[in-house]
Amino acid sequence: MPTIDFRPDADGADAFNADPYPAYARAREAGPVHRFVNSDGTEGWLVVGHEAAREALNHPDLCKNSQLSTFYAPGSADEVVAVSTNMLEADPPDHTRLRRLVVREFTARRVEALRPRVQQITDGLLDAMAAEESRSADLIRALAFPLPMTVICELLGVPDLDRDRFRLWSNEIVAPSAPEAAAEAFKQMSDFLTELIADKAGRPGEDLLSALIRTRDEDGDRLTHDELIGMAYLLLIAGHETTVNLIANGVRALLAHPAQLAALRADPDGLLDGAVEEMLRYDGPVENATYRFARTEVELAGTVVPAGATVLVSLAGADHDPARFARPDSFDIHRAPQGHLAFGHGIHYCLGAPLARLEGRVAIRSLLERFPGLAADPAAGPPEWVPGSLIRGLRRLPVRW
Ligand code: HEM
Repeated sequence: MPTIDFRPDADGADAFNADPYPAYARAREAGPVHRFVNSDGTEGWLVVGHEAAREALNHPDLCKNSQLSTFYAPGSADEVVAVSTNMLEADPPDHTRLRRLVVREFTARRVEALRPRVQQITDGLLDAMAAEESRSADLIRALAFPLPMTVICELLGVPDLDRDRFRLWSNEIVAPSAPEAAAEAFKQMSDFLTELIADKAGRPGEDLLSALIRTRDEDGDRLTHDELIGMAYLLLIAGHETTVNLIANGVRALLAHPAQLAALRADPDGLLDGAVEEMLRYDGPVENATYRFARTEVELAGTVVPAGATVLVSLAGADHDPARFARPDSFDIHRAPQGHLAFGHGIHYCLGAPLARLEGRVAIRSLLERFPGLAADPAAGPPEWVPGSLIRGLRRLPVRW
């Protein structure tokens, strides 16, 4: 059984980080479930087959209670506990209660009402980009990061966020460069959220965070202080760390496949929605889902995973499984990639999927319309990928036009 080694000093780590798909394919050929070692030393079972991944993500005995783990020990500092008190780290009934409080804000209908504002923000960002005399830009800085960040900040009611600082903490938390740096980022993030919530409590507005604070004051369904911090944290982080990479990985794939790009430019009405789904399948933002922990012994596709084991589901591996998608390593915007797992599966299925799809579609369509000569910048060096097992994304995407 091959072991997938996510440690930065592992043999071939740079090549794996730049293109993990061949390693997942080799593992998958040997079977759907393997062992992994993560960069923090955590060891466990890695699921790389599509069918087994769906089963694992929906398995009632694979849960989020890390105290069950015989191996994984999350940080115990107060700030880590506070931000971790969120639905993605919770099992029912807490998960059900936390998700129910915000689910109505993210339904397809509610999100569709945001379309004019998403378009307006996108147009403003593209205006600024078009004004670049050098006719070149880092697409992440110009569009892919500020669009989802602005949208989620407006929804939550976070005014005047120092975006650069927030991006640094957020990047450090999802892909730590060192344990001390991650601890410091958790601390900064938690201090920032505590201050934000105190400020909102004093000056409530019409936004989601104010509504959640009111819920705490008036409803039977109260949020504790840590739950409030955890909710704000999860929505802010999940609301942008992923969508930035849908836009950037998606544009990178298009620029590398000129025939697909030309087809999309020729028929955006017919092809855009499918193209965004294919971007999510082909090089989706979440490489591996968050950890699950085995409550009991669990059998996954013939492999027995012991009680207390840590299980990692490779969404990237699952979405390149030839048993589910023909020619999985080809980027083909004409395929129907229904059933991809880029947004997860089961009770933790991405709450923000409708919002992410809206932002992705608006961003990509508007970018192609405004920049007919868009191309990868040949002067840029080799791509730099975010390290770690969670996120599949670039640090920069230099483009020119
Ligand atoms: C393309 C962009 C996005 C991708 C690929 C993505 C992917 C995912 C995935 C894979 C999960 C499940 C993780 C797991 O089971 O371990 C998830 C959960 C979640 N996502 Fe997203 N996400 C995206 C955008 C967003 C946005 C814009 C929001 C903003 C609100 C959001 C909020 C959440 C929340 C709150 C959860 C936890 C749901 C739960 O535990 O019930 N995501 N996302």
